[in-house]
Amino acid sequence: MIEQRWYKNTIIYSLALDSFLDSNGDGIGDFGGLLKRLDYLQGLGVGAVWVMPFHPSPRRDHGYDVADYYGIDPRYGTLGDFVEFTHACRTRGMRVMMDLVLNHTSDQHPWFQAAIEDPESRYREFYIWADKKPKNAHEGMVFPGVQDSTWTFSKKAKAWYYHKFFEFQPDLNIANPQVQSELLKIVGFWLEAGVSGFRLDAVPFLIAADEKHPSDAEPAFDFLRRIRELAQWRKGDAVFLAEANIPPEDCIKYFGESGDRLHMMFNFPVNQTLFYALASNDTGPLREKLEASRDLPQTAQWAHFLRNHDELDIGRLPDDQRAAVFAAFGPEEHMQLYDRGIRRRLAPMLGGDRRRLELAYSLMLTMPGTPVIRYGDEIGMGDDLDLPEREAGRTPMQWSGERNGGFSPSDDPVRPPIAEGPYGFQTVNVARQRAQEGSLLNWTERMLRMRKELPELGHGSFTILPAPAHVLAMCYEFEDNLSVFVHNLAEERIDLKIEQLPQDCAQRPLVCLQTDHEIRPDAEGCYDLVLEPSGYKWFRLGGLEDMIEGDEPQADRPRKG
Ligand code: GLC
Ligand code: CA
Repeated sequence: MIEQRWYKNTIIYSLALDSFLDSNGDGIGDFGGLLKRLDYLQGLGVGAVWVMPFHPSPRRDHGYDVADYYGIDPRYGTLGDFVEFTHACRTRGMRVMMDLVLNHTSDQHPWFQAAIEDPESRYREFYIWADKKPKNAHEGMVFPGVQDSTWTFSKKAKAWYYHKFFEFQPDLNIANPQVQSELLKIVGFWLEAGVSGFRLDAVPFLIAADEKHPSDAEPAFDFLRRIRELAQWRKGDAVFLAEANIPPEDCIKYFGESGDRLHMMFNFPVNQTLFYALASNDTGPLREKLEASRDLPQTAQWAHFLRNHDELDIGRLPDDQRAAVFAAFGPEEHMQLYDRGIRRRLAPMLGGDRRRLELAYSLMLTMPGTPVIRYGDEIGMGDDLDLPEREAGRTPMQWSGERNGGFSPSDDPVRPPIAEGPYGFQTVNVARQRAQEGSLLNWTERMLRMRKELPELGHGSFTILPAPAHVLAMCYEFEDNLSVFVHNLAEERIDLKIEQLPQDCAQRPLVCLQTDHEIRPDAEGCYDLVLEPSGYKWFRLGGLEDMIEGDEPQADRPRKG
């Protein structure tokens, strides 16, 4: 028996409360609004809702500056509303994941306040200090261009404190056992409130946080093991999903050699090379990163995404590849950010071209791992480049053509909804797309359903099949199932021969899941198919219905339709 773990065959949907739906008219989305849209999410096929930070916070970094880990920002609701929300998800068979920011707190957090007030306080050692300005104070900023140092002098503390991110986000001293026990308690608390998982923010910085022993990250890695051990003791199916933009070869340290650290990691190398493939039609670097992402411990899993709430970070691509992505998707300076990324949403990056959007989504959904969707991408929302930095892609969800896109009746919404142009809410909204049979929303829903019917994608092993550089052809196997996914990145039609699939296919047909047409192998066991420009096809050997255990494959069964 191979155990099927929930996070290996689910769809994660990420959203920020403030921009989803406002239920009380103050212009700010809230738990009341989210509750009203759970049926929408369930209908879309979402298995887990990842809610971005909702704690009390000065909100100078969209809530990633936490002032109270045990609270709910009153603008979003109460702790009672939160538990109503986790309960309502559970009754619909959905799980809740939440952001957990462990690398730093807000400078308004009582720990930091106590630390600067009193050098003798036990909270002083919760943070990282220096008496003199460190020489490297102007190096290693995460937000170059808007952040100018990693050490800031606190007049009250009469000392310098370390912050990898903005100066209002002092880094916690993870090496301090007292800090570790506080953080474990926070995990335990939210598990009791009904969450099934955490998206762990900024993990590489957490690991490197111990400036005093920079070469020895082991204590911090061991913390990853402890945090998992605690969560699984408290709640067996709890998972951690790490945000860590690092080379694939380093990832094993985050998963743990024996799979005893974090369960899931976002696959940033695949994300960056996937955008390069879309920009250049060359799938070579993507194939390399896929090959480098193999051989995980049994419980480990990749999470795949196209866009997230931050800039599209292409900082790890070689210069020529990065230049190609900038040229294709973010050629103008105001589209770029932090010298490494593009602050646009997916649809405008792809010129609103429905074929390219489908291609991109289809590629992402067929990567080996669990897909993560960003709110609004299911309807092809745009961005507002007049908003500062990453805000451009954080505009309110567009529910309808009504005032503020149906997001809020307020005159002063938290961020202005996109009201004009091809991505304005009058044109791009849920209500309209619900009514159009062929809309992106309905396409996405069908694709998500199909994705979930193919557990080999989340659980199985993959082979990259021989194909020209502008085509990605992948085969997945899991238990008795075998499927093949082909993507043509070029703008020309192509004839493709799929040679000899890895398993003995006993002359069975490949059934296209979009059309229900089948392709029979020739005498050598090769399958001939045609891909349209920017075309993609999903196949299951024998079709989806054929795989009832114990059934003899019936090669010559006619297909209906
Ligand atoms: C992560 C988040 C980002 C935030 C940063 C600091 O990178 O994704 O939005 O600004 O951490 O917490
Ligand atoms: Ca509200």
